[in-house]
Amino acid sequence: MRQLSTLKALPLIVAACIPVYIAPGLGHAADLKAGQALHNAHCLKCHDSELYTRPDRHIATLDSLRQQVQRCDTNLGLTWFEDEIENVTQYLNATYYKVE
Ligand code: HEC
Repeated sequence: MRQLSTLKALPLIVAACIPVYIAPGLGHAADLKAGQALHNAHCLKCHDSELYTRPDRHIATLDSLRQQVQRCDTNLGLTWFEDEIENVTQYLNATYYKVE
């Protein structure tokens, strides 16, 4: 009987878990404010934001911007989570780079 009620509850449990797995796949909106706060706290020590808009900047795509943010994160030993990388990437893109 005990097993049966667990089985009955299974669809509910599964349903409850699905949004957690689907949400990132939907490209959930990045938190630009959080990205800005992280960026301003950690990323303006060596260069200011002029680097992002200089004529010979290195970034041409969103992927390369994300990789650069990742590289700086690794270099600095910040060990940001993926969503923090994404927030900073999207903040920089929305504010400076405006690439696809
Ligand atoms: C220890 C110093 C230092 C810190 C701190 C730092 N960077 Fe950098 N960053 C550099 C250097 C050096 C370059 C390369 C500049 C060049 O190519 O002339 C660079 C380049 C970049 C570029 C590419 C600029 C372009 O368009 O050409 C981006 C984007 C960037 N950094 C983002 C970040 C982010 C995000 C952080 C915070 C996680 C950060 N940086 C923190 C040193 C630093």
